[in-house]
Formats: sequence, structure tokens, C-alpha cells
Amino acid sequence: MLLITGATGYVGRHLVARLVQNGERPRCLVRDVKRAAAVLPAGQVAFAQGDTTRAETLATALQGVDTVIHAAFMTADRKQSSGNHYYETNVQGTANLVQAARAAGVARIIEMSGLGTHPDKPGTYMQGRYEAERMVKESGLEWTIIQPSVLFGKGAPFIKGLTDLIRTSPVVPLIGGGKIQFQPIFVEDVVTVILKVLQERERTNHKTYIIGGPEYYTFTQVINALLHTMHKNRIKAPAPNALVGIGAAVMEAVLPKPPLTKAAMTLFTFDNITDIHSVERDFGFTPVAFSKFLTEQGV
Ligand SMILES: NC(=O)c1ccc[n+]([C@@H]2O[C@H](COP(=O)([O-])OP(=O)(O)OC[C@H]3O[C@@H](n4cnc5c(N)ncnc54)[C@H](OP(=O)(O)O)[C@@H]3O)[C@@H](O)[C@H]2O)c1
Repeated sequence: MLLITGATGYVGRHLVARLVQNGERPRCLVRDVKRAAAVLPAGQVAFAQGDTTRAETLATALQGVDTVIHAAFMTADRKQSSGNHYYETNVQGTANLVQAARAAGVARIIEMSGLGTHPDKPGTYMQGRYEAERMVKESGLEWTIIQPSVLFGKGAPFIKGLTDLIRTSPVVPLIGGGKIQFQPIFVEDVVTVILKVLQERERTNHKTYIIGGPEYYTFTQVINALLHTMHKNRIKAPAPNALVGIGAAVMEAVLPKPPLTKAAMTLFTFDNITDIHSVERDFGFTPVAFSKFLTEQGV
């Protein structure tokens, strides 16, 4: 039995759809079954109601489970709110899950993490993501960690944040001067990687896979590609991180869904890239290029 946490999320929904297409019936750990049934193929999956931050809800969900795919995280682009805190969800939630998995006799955990996860100052978003990875590695279970660069695909959070900004603002800030590099990877290709990890159990055990698409883009190039695809002209204003950080803090304080959060600024402090052939090298297929996707499918 396969249990997916974060099944209602962007990665989770695409993963569940492919598993169901392949004739599988995964169990999905969800906080709200009614809300989950609206976004997942309800008749073709099993729901287990649970919340990783509430340890007592996990034992039943993990009964009879061999492998957990852990994608229930508070990502940096989301503003913290009641019941959704970076530390509580990412660190305590993962600790609870690992402990409950061990107690239930689960054999294996696959964690959806992010490219560039590294130790940082105590209490920061990045440190929490690093601790979550460490707990998985030290769980005593078979483990695999997948660290993708930013995702693209219809409704992908990173791209949607930028297209919303382009639609609503006459000025687009080139965060960090626009020079930070990204390696956008198609969500369906990330799902293919997860499915291959699931199948190739021995080869992928105790490994961290850093993956990206077949093209590097600076942030300025991402913005230019989106402006071109959307047939829009905008003023592009190079903005130092310190200034954008203040803007992000203000937006977070006043908007329920800010286009940028302070935690998301972490993404703009290092190049989000790896080997251009990472997916071919580790998984034997060529991922879709962002440029091709934009030409064929739009934003
Ligand atoms: N999207 C990207 O561009 C991208 C890029 C690189 C890496 N990743 C990584 O991939 C993973 C998944 O990202 P995503 O974009 O799919 O995130 P997402 O769309 O924000 O989904 C998060 C999921 O976690 C669930 N969740 C949150 N707190 C929970 C809790 N306490 N208990 C149980 N479930 C909880 C949410 O459920 P509700 O429906 O109840 O809120 C939702 O299903 C993350 O680790 C992220 O860092 C994503």
C-alpha cells in the first residue's frame, strides 16, 4: 500500500492522477476529505483523514502501508496562517510522520523536497526544510529524497505568482537584479521521476536526486519569456533583495495571498540549478523544455 501526504497539493494532484491512470489506488492522507474529494478522483483513491502536525491522527492512516510519499509541506511561497506554520508543518509534521511510520512498520519513505535545501539560521524556513530531510535520512527506513528546481505546468505556483504579478502590476521587480538562475522542470516530468523512484527501489535507496529541466533561465529571462508569451510589456525594475524583502514583508502583513513572501526570498539567494542533464543521467529520459511548453501551451 502506498500513502501520499500532500495529495491535494500541486505535485500531489498530478502524482495521484498518473497513479490512477496506471490502475493504482493510492491512499491519500488529507486534512479535509470533502475538500480533497473535490480535487482528487474520489472513487479511485482511498482517503485517510489526518494532519501531520497531529501525531494521534497518523497511526490509522499508516496501517498496512509499505511506502510513504511525503509531499505535505508548507512551501515558502505561502503565507503562514492558523494551522499552517513553516516549522510546525515541515519539521514537527515530518518528525511525527517518521515516528508513526516506524511504529506502523512502514518500509520506505520518499520525500519531495526542493533544490538547494541547506542548513540555515535556527528557526528559518530553510533550516526547517533541512531538518525535515535530515529526519528522513536518519529514520532507519529506506529513503529517497527528490529535490526539483521550480516547477512549470498549468497553474504551477512559481509561474502563476509571476503571471499574476504581470497581469496586475505595471512594474515587475527583477528580484536580486534578475541574475539568479533557475532550471524549470515540468510537473509531469517530476511525476515520472517519482514513479521511477517507486519502481527502482534498490537503485534509488539512500539517494538524494537533484533535478531540473533541460534549460537554464535567469530570473530576467523567465520574466521575458512570460511577457513574450502573454503579449505584455512591463517596466522591469532591478530591485536589490533587501528592498524586495521589505516589500514582501509589507505584502505579507496586509494581503491574505501575497505574491511574494519573506520565506520565498530564500529562493533568490542562490542559483536554483544543477547538471543540465540531471534527469537523463539519473532517470534516462529528456524532460520537456520550458520554452517548448510556453510555445505550445501558453502560460
Ligand atoms: N511547486 C513547486 O514549484 C515545487 C518545486 C520544487 C519542490 N517542490 C516541493 O514539492 C513538495 C510539494 O509542493 P506543492 O507545490 O505540491 O505544495 P502545495 O501545493 O502547497 O501542497 C501542499 C500539500 O500539503 C498538504 N498539507 C499541508 N500541511 C499539512 C498537514 N499539516 N497535514 C497534512 N497535509 C498537509 C496540503 O493539504 P491541504 O489541501 O489540506 O492544504 C497540500 O496537499 C514541497 O515539499 C515543495 O517544496 C515544489
